[in-house]
Amino acid sequence: MRILSVFGTRPEAIKMAPVIKALAAESGLQPITCVTGQHRQMLDQVLELFGIKPDHDLSVMTPNQTLNGLSGRVIEGLDAILADEKPDYVLTHGDTTTAMAASLAAFHRNIPVGHVEAGLRTYDLSKPWPEEFNRRTIDVLATKLFAPTETSAANLRSERLNGEILVTGNTVIDALMETVERIRTTPELKAQLDARFSFLDPSRKLLLVTGHRRESFGDGFLNICKALANLSRRDNLQIVYPVHLNPNVSDPVHELLGKNPNISLIDPQEYLSFVYLLNRADIVLTDSGGVQEEAPSLGKPVLVMRDVTERPEAVAAGGVRLVGARTTRIVSEVEQLLDDADHYASFARILNPYGDGHASTRIAAALAGRSSAAFAA
Ligand code: UD1
Ligand code: UDP
Repeated sequence: MRILSVFGTRPEAIKMAPVIKALAAESGLQPITCVTGQHRQMLDQVLELFGIKPDHDLSVMTPNQTLNGLSGRVIEGLDAILADEKPDYVLTHGDTTTAMAASLAAFHRNIPVGHVEAGLRTYDLSKPWPEEFNRRTIDVLATKLFAPTETSAANLRSERLNGEILVTGNTVIDALMETVERIRTTPELKAQLDARFSFLDPSRKLLLVTGHRRESFGDGFLNICKALANLSRRDNLQIVYPVHLNPNVSDPVHELLGKNPNISLIDPQEYLSFVYLLNRADIVLTDSGGVQEEAPSLGKPVLVMRDVTERPEAVAAGGVRLVGARTTRIVSEVEQLLDDADHYASFARILNPYGDGHASTRIAAALAGRSSAAFAA
C-alpha cells in the first residue's frame, strides 16, 4: 500500500517525522513524502534533523502569503502529484492550510485520507483562525481519524462523522521523547548545545517565549511585547524568545523589543536546540499548539496566550493556564510563578496527557490493517 504523507510547516514536519519512520518499518506499507513548502526555512530545519528527503516539494511559500493564494497553490500542485503517484492513501496532519488543501485535493480524486491529530476542537471558528475550520473540514472527509486523546475522540463521535476513529496519542510526544533521548545519550551534542546557549545565566530564572497566532496579530502582539518589556525589568529573570518568521510577528517584535538588553530575540531554533531550551526553561509563555503539548511532558509550567484551547487536557491536569494576549494578566501570572514557590510547584509536575511515545506505531499498524491497543492517558 502506497501512502503519501503531505505536510508543509514546522509543526507538521516535527509531528509527521516519527510517522514516516513508522510507516517505513511496517511491512506492506510504502511511504511517499510530499512537502508543500508552506514554510521554507522552518520546514527545512526539521527535514534535515530527522533526515527526511521528500520525494516531492511543491515550494509554494511566498513572502507574507495569503491563505487563498496558498490554498490554490497547494491544491493545484498536489493534484499533479496525485495523478502521477496514484497513492492508495493520503495522510495529512493537524490544522494548517497545507493539511486542509491537501485533504481536499485527495478527496476530489477519491483517494482516502487519514487524518493525524483529528478531533481537536474549540467549536469557535475564530479561535484558532483559520485552523478550527481547517481541522473540522478534514475530519468531515477523512476515512481514518487518528485522535490523539480520548477527549478528541469524543468530539469526533459526537459529530457522527464517517471516518473510523482510533485513539493514538499525539505523535509530538514520539518526536519529543526521541529528541530528549538523543541529547541525553550523545555527550558531544549536549556539549555543543551547552556552548551554543552559554549566554544563559543559571542564576536567573528562564522564561521561554514563542508566539504566532493570527488572531493575535496587531493589538495582541503589542500587548505581549508590553508584558515582556515590563517583565524584563526583573533582575532574577532572563527572557529568551525565538521569533517566528511571519512578518506580522517578527516586524513588531523586533521593533518593540529589539533594543531591550534583557530580552534575547533569537532566530527560530532547529528542534534539538528548542527542546534543549524547553528543558532549561523555568516558565514557558506561548500560544503554540505543539509547545502546549510538549512542555507538560517535561514538567514545565505553561502560560498560554490564548482565550480558548483545543488542547484542554493539560489545563485540566493543572500544568497549563490560559492567560490571553493581555498585558497585565501575562505579567501577573509570570510574577506569581516567580514569586510563589508553592504555586510554582503545583504547576511544575510532569504530565503526559498527550501521548506515550507510541502514537506513530499505532497509526502505521492501523494503516496496515493490524489492530493495536488504543492510547490511554
Ligand atoms: C502556519 C499555520 C499555523 C501553524 C504555524 C506554525 C496556516 C493558516 N497557518 O502559520 O496553523 O500553527 O504555521 O508555525 O496554515 N515565513 C518564512 N519562512 C518560514 C515560515 C514562514 O519566511 O519558514 C513567513 C513567510 O513570509 C510566510 C509567512 O511567514 O508567507 C506566513 O507563513 P504561513 O505558513 O502562511 O503562516 P504561519 O503564521 O507560519
Ligand atoms: N519549535 C521549534 N523551534 C522553535 C520554536 C518551536 O522547533 O524555535 C517547535 C516546538 O517544539 C513544537 C513546534 O515547533 O514542536 C511548534 O510549532 P509552532 O509553534 O510554530 O506551531 P503550532 O504547534 O502552534 O502549530
